[in-house]
Amino acid sequence: MSGELSPIDKAKFVAAKRSVDFVEDGMRVGLGTGSTAAWMVRCLGELVREDGLRIKGVPTSTRTAQLAREVGIEVISLDEAKWLDLTIDGADEFDSSLNLIKGGGGALLQEKIVATASDQMIVIADIGKQVDALGAFPLPIEVIPFGWQTTQALVEETLISMDVLGRNSTLRMNGQRPFVTDEGNYILDLHLNRIGDARQLAMVLNQMPGVVENGLFIDICDCVIVGFGDGRVEVR
Ligand code: 5RP
Repeated sequence: MSGELSPIDKAKFVAAKRSVDFVEDGMRVGLGTGSTAAWMVRCLGELVREDGLRIKGVPTSTRTAQLAREVGIEVISLDEAKWLDLTIDGADEFDSSLNLIKGGGGALLQEKIVATASDQMIVIADIGKQVDALGAFPLPIEVIPFGWQTTQALVEETLISMDVLGRNSTLRMNGQRPFVTDEGNYILDLHLNRIGDARQLAMVLNQMPGVVENGLFIDICDCVIVGFGDGRVEVR
């Protein structure tokens, strides 16, 4: 399935392939978004088609829903599933406490709702995503389009008052237009460099009017499967 891959894609693939070992017959599985999660969805599809694995998948984006259907996974909504056995998703950064930055693909809102509604969240990532402190990757926050510039100003002022490094933010674009999430919202990417107290920042951001969700996943991930370019895999 993997063919000739670059080291980074191989690392993503081997992590994804290992993660499907955790999926058991009859499970309701949250399906993440992004290139690593896409490998996992393809691996799961192979098990469904060739080994008769019976699962129900709850996708975290329209992209993932489409791929899941294409590879033969039965797709249901979160409300139909009500609760999930397991969610497998990628990440943009993870630290030694298994806290994450997610949302590089713009699906953080559904990803957080789905992961939180799961008994277990497994993250699959190449080793390049491991960091000492979160924040080098710009932190995505999903904001309501109404008054987004006012929300942006409020967020920046708040970061300054918290003495958080970086302080500037950018509206994510899709060509000449703002990037629009599956929920019809915009994304602000916060350039923070290094997040000192991620738990506090996550709480403060979510208290602001106009902010729907932030990409900090604190105490949600149970395990990270790390892939390396030489094909090794470590479970943390
Ligand atoms: C999407 C995400 C992705 O999981 C994250 O951006 C990692 O993506 P990739 O596996 O392509 O590196 O959070 O919102």
